[in-house]
Amino acid sequence: MAPVRVSAVVLLALGCALAVATADVTTTAPSSPSPAPTGWLRADATFYGGADASGTMGGACGYGNLYAQGYGSRTTALSTVLFNDGASCGQCYKIACDRKTDPTWCKPGVTVTVTATNFCPPNWELPNGGWCNTTRPHFDMAQPAWEKIGVYSGGNIPVIYQRVPCVRRGGVRFTINGHDYFNLVLVSNVAAAGSIKSMEVKASDSNDWMPMARNWGANWHSLSYLTGKMLSFRVTITDGQTLEFTNVVPPGWTFGITIASNLQFN
Ligand SMILES: *[C@@H]1O[C@H](CO)[C@@H](O)[C@H](O)[C@H]1NC(C)=O
Repeated sequence: MAPVRVSAVVLLALGCALAVATADVTTTAPSSPSPAPTGWLRADATFYGGADASGTMGGACGYGNLYAQGYGSRTTALSTVLFNDGASCGQCYKIACDRKTDPTWCKPGVTVTVTATNFCPPNWELPNGGWCNTTRPHFDMAQPAWEKIGVYSGGNIPVIYQRVPCVRRGGVRFTINGHDYFNLVLVSNVAAAGSIKSMEVKASDSNDWMPMARNWGANWHSLSYLTGKMLSFRVTITDGQTLEFTNVVPPGWTFGITIASNLQFN
């Protein structure tokens, strides 16, 4: 079969898979699928961080060790328009190489789903700010994820992508850093929309939910005195689902603690 034909079949197959997935979501969740399907959009994709993805740890979303957090090497940095000042942290994207545009460096018939964990800044030493310039949608993916869809020597490949619901194992996790009167709470392992719209905290000695603010990436802060108190979180994700994590943080907690809840968005 000629390469051009293969790419037509691949695109058709992708279209069918999408239709099936959408139908599934509609039957199991009669409200609206999370996130709403957008259809396939165009971007480019490069890779970073090395063959073992070690260079992708840390990152502008604040998830730290991506293996420990369950994201592994299926991760990506986003250019400015996609990153949205960190509001996109935790979102999931299904990405396919656009073989019609680039039959040489695209692997046929495969997609990879990645989580946004980092920011790809523009590089103004390159003409137009490079691949990750401020107006250009671009994925700088962990190398093992990128190599699922692209041939190493290709370097930069044209892709088609869409947001998809995130699938996570286990419940939402909270890591508390900072100090007295400044609690920095990292929210990770979020399913469905993956990204957080707003967040509140309540201490067990209070009846008031206090709003938290996004500090950076997936880190939200509170300036209240919460040290050592039993805490609850109320988290709303970007598709509008809200969950209350009642007394999820035990009394006597210390800074640096990570708590895995048993609640998850669907
Ligand atoms: C980003 O790059 C594209 C393609 O090279 C170019 O058309 C666009 O003007 C650039 N944007 C900025 C803000 O430089």
